[in-house]
Amino acid sequence: MRRALTLALGGLMLAGAAPAQDLAEGRKVAGMCRTCHGLDGYAKVPIAPHIGGEPQSYLVEQLTAFKTGRREHEMMTVVASGLSPQQIVDVAAWYSAHSASASLPAGADPAAAPEMCVSCHGADGISELETAPNLAAETNIYIDTQLKAFRSGKREHEIMSAIAADLTDAEIRAYADWYAASTLTITPPPDQ
Ligand code: HEC
Ligand code: HEC
Repeated sequence: MRRALTLALGGLMLAGAAPAQDLAEGRKVAGMCRTCHGLDGYAKVPIAPHIGGEPQSYLVEQLTAFKTGRREHEMMTVVASGLSPQQIVDVAAWYSAHSASASLPAGADPAAAPEMCVSCHGADGISELETAPNLAAETNIYIDTQLKAFRSGKREHEIMSAIAADLTDAEIRAYADWYAASTLTITPPPDQ
């Protein structure tokens, strides 16, 4: 909740600080993303992650990684290679101007959340860091795939590669199931 508020305020500050057309441009670019990620960043297909309300810096970083080949995916590599650096900044501004909040399934005990992950990804999957993505309500297939990509070296990140290196398939499955069970709410920026 606190995080959702911070994000909402962050979104407002962003809208205030950046030229208005950035968000409008970003919304236009998001037209290319909507079939998979939705216009509000709530994914429409199970293999695509929710991106609404993610930190702007994280979104820019990942899109740039797909564009430069540091992260690879048959769909996203094609999409990102067609975006200019300005379009990347604008579309990231659009999605990050949304706010994300999450709740655990009824009866779930936050104390049972994966201990190794909560300091950065939260108990309910809302990130505690500007550099880390939300995991709430991502499909277990998506989370599983990413953790195995970090483990095999297909995707690299100094923190996540080290964490994933020691995870068993069963642990990966259990963490993926925990975060996939959260419910995610994405709220569009005001006036959009
Ligand atoms: C045809 C479907 C499709 C389209 C269109 C698409 N994406 Fe994706 N996107 C995906 C998939 C699938 C992944 C997961 C890639 C992986 O497994 O590494 C992804 C991953 C991402 C990620 C990484 C998120 C994370 O949590 O790490 C970002 C950011 C992203 N997409 C942004 C965009 C933007 C912005 C657009 C439009 C300009 C777009 N995508 C268009 C399917 C799509
Ligand atoms: C010290 C902080 C930290 C901890 C602890 C941590 N993560 Fe991460 N995680 C990150 C960061 C930062 C990223 C972004 C990596 C990148 O930029 O590619 C990330 C990315 C991920 C992703 C990719 C999500 C996406 O949208 O593509 C998954 C899945 C993930 N973490 C799962 C976990 C799990 C499960 C645990 C516990 C076993 C965990 N993480 C522990 C910081 C952390």
